[in-house]
Amino acid sequence: MTSTELRRRFEAEFGVQPKVFAAPGRVNLIGEHTDYNDGFVLPCAIGFTTRVAIAPRPDRKLLLVSDGYHDRFEFDLDRLPHARLGAWCDYVLGVAVVLQQIGPLGHGANVLVHGEVPIGAGLSSSAAVEVASALAFMSMNGAIFPMPQVARLCQRAENTFVGARVGIMDQFVSCLGKAGHALRLDCRSLDFELVPIPANVRLVICNTMVKHELAGGEYNRRREECDEGVRELSNWYPGIRALRDVSVEQFEQHAGDLPVIIRMRCQHVVDENQRVMDASRALAAGDLARFGQLMRASHNSLRDLYAVSSEELDIMVEIAEGLPGYWGGRMTGGGFGGCTVNLVTAGETDPFAAEIKKRYHDKTGIHPDVYVCAAADGASAELNGR
Ligand code: GLA
Repeated sequence: MTSTELRRRFEAEFGVQPKVFAAPGRVNLIGEHTDYNDGFVLPCAIGFTTRVAIAPRPDRKLLLVSDGYHDRFEFDLDRLPHARLGAWCDYVLGVAVVLQQIGPLGHGANVLVHGEVPIGAGLSSSAAVEVASALAFMSMNGAIFPMPQVARLCQRAENTFVGARVGIMDQFVSCLGKAGHALRLDCRSLDFELVPIPANVRLVICNTMVKHELAGGEYNRRREECDEGVRELSNWYPGIRALRDVSVEQFEQHAGDLPVIIRMRCQHVVDENQRVMDASRALAAGDLARFGQLMRASHNSLRDLYAVSSEELDIMVEIAEGLPGYWGGRMTGGGFGGCTVNLVTAGETDPFAAEIKKRYHDKTGIHPDVYVCAAADGASAELNGR
């Protein structure tokens, strides 16, 4: 649905013209499960967008409607729920709740959501809804926060209201991504650098069609294992606050002193931070072969050490090997399902996609979706048509 169609739909429903805000999903090129360890990531925004149309109401009601779901929700701004309802509206509501904590929303609103980011595919449909909603609510209050702060408050909504202890990566790149670029983010300082993606490659995203669930226990368990690693390692390195503070060399000195599971998890994070640095340099230099190698190494580490891959993700990675134009690929996002991201020469993407579909179906009996993407711009207010 285009922005103009969304406006029409809103006007038909509520009888007034809305403002429309858009935010994209993302794909992470490398740097997985590093963000909540204060580490480094290299995602980019993609062309799947969520749009939120909004107009004020004279009362203090919040009416939330989505064109993708039948349920509609009505809340009183002064009595918003404190925790998730387990419904699609949680991401919008969570943002409203967090904004209310900062400063009360002036008046109620009618809100219509249209999401295009595939749900449960590890492409951050939730961050896209949160960011678009935050911009929408802020526009009504005349509050203008800098984008990094918008990302932070959306993350807070997901952590405290939805109950998923996610890091800052998804919301940040949904806010600040730039077309044609990956964004290398320092998840502690939020300093970032835009790294141009060579024009002759595309990001081919292959959906295993197996949904992942972030609020599920495994994600939080990995976080706890990392925290445990920090506690153990601070016996030798008292100044450390997060795994980000441990170099590959320092880790090697004491890896053998850690319980085996904790050692494996920490090894992944420490190496993965280094891989992000190396991969950013390789990308900036146009060294796709090196970048591809690092993607493979990242996948193997997520599979063997961090244990967040799945049979389908592994198959999806393996069947890409040797195809013309393929530079490298890996699972992307939290894991346990969702998508792989592959770097493929621009002219080869169609045969690549066709062959992946065939091979994956032959091996699993599942028809996968394959999306050929380029890095897109982050969130925006869509003023056209007004
Ligand atoms: C999910 C989370 C992110 C990040 C990734 C793993 O996408 O939302 O914050 O932790 O998993 O890299």
